[in-house]
Amino acid sequence: MYQLNLDIAHFLEHYWQKRPLLIKGGFTDFQDPISPDELAGLAMEEVIESRLVTRFNNKWEAAHGPFESYDHLGEENWTVLVQACNHWAPEVNELALPFQFIPGWRFDDVMVSFSTPHGGVGPHIDNYDVFITQGQGKRHWRVGDAKPLNEFAAHAALLHCEPFEAIIDVIMEPGDILYIPPGFPHEGYAIEPSLNFSVGFRAPDAKALISSFADHLIDNEIRTERYGDADLKPRARHGEIQPHELHRLRELMQQALDDKTLFKEWFGTMISEAKHDLDVSPMEPDYSAEEVADLLTQGEPAIKVPGLRSVWFSGESQTCYIDGEAWTLPSEDAAAISLLCDKDMVTQADMVELADQAGFLQLLTRLVNRGYWFFN
Ligand code: SIN
Ligand code: CO
Repeated sequence: MYQLNLDIAHFLEHYWQKRPLLIKGGFTDFQDPISPDELAGLAMEEVIESRLVTRFNNKWEAAHGPFESYDHLGEENWTVLVQACNHWAPEVNELALPFQFIPGWRFDDVMVSFSTPHGGVGPHIDNYDVFITQGQGKRHWRVGDAKPLNEFAAHAALLHCEPFEAIIDVIMEPGDILYIPPGFPHEGYAIEPSLNFSVGFRAPDAKALISSFADHLIDNEIRTERYGDADLKPRARHGEIQPHELHRLRELMQQALDDKTLFKEWFGTMISEAKHDLDVSPMEPDYSAEEVADLLTQGEPAIKVPGLRSVWFSGESQTCYIDGEAWTLPSEDAAAISLLCDKDMVTQADMVELADQAGFLQLLTRLVNRGYWFFN
């Protein structure tokens, strides 16, 4: 259990999405949730997204995993980065929990990097908010102000930005946390072999939202209104598009967005879908609801698979969205929805609040059989 030393209300008001912050000693007596060897092992797996960034003889190079060996790399100037480590190492997922004051739908993943001395990914700008915790070792981090900077490919898979002046310039030690909002250039180079844990948050842009909404309409064969002009009048200029026609086109698109049920259905399924594979093993054979109830009663919690995304809309306590699918409870039940979406496990003690225990157990059993919640 990691305890974050941070005044959350003050942080949200003054720093979140506004300016970077060094949280010196953000975690007291920080213990690495994973070792460099274990991390190197994860980067050898096909299903896990990883990158190796090197700067040998001042030449940047980046390669995507999986990797077979690190022996040829030597002692300096390289870093290996593993995305969504929290999906594969439950101990790493623990590191995301102290940041749950940011809504779950904004959470992306925990990326872990191991850097040898002088190793880093170079100066760059991210679109995401990130809390970078220093694990073992020391690393020199610089963060610049959010000003327009030229960006260029230092290598095919490595986007850099031009040099910047630092507003934060610090040597991070174990337990220190660096918060960087989107748009602030930064670079970090290890002084000693270093582990860094990046708890990242995503925010979609309008382009991605529009494209995903359109995909939802197409995938679900949803009928939308078609443009019509039964009121057409004779006109002289054949090539002209008139303002009321443009307005009507825009309204047509707006109408599709204004369908509140559709909008929620789309957003709930889209945002709950995992971007990286999950470590999910469906039950074989299936559990019965009685078996699930027995395990809970014996004190075994049903644990949510690390990285599983589950969300609900305030005021709607019958439907929740889990891993890209809508799931419906037998009746409105705020406590049940909250158990599935707001908590990381279900215990026997949690069940007492429920309006319909049997109905909830049926749903939980389906989720357990899918492998989304599991018993140790
Ligand atoms: C890292 O090198 O651990 C973090 C990379 C980044 O700045 O995004
Ligand atoms: Co970055």
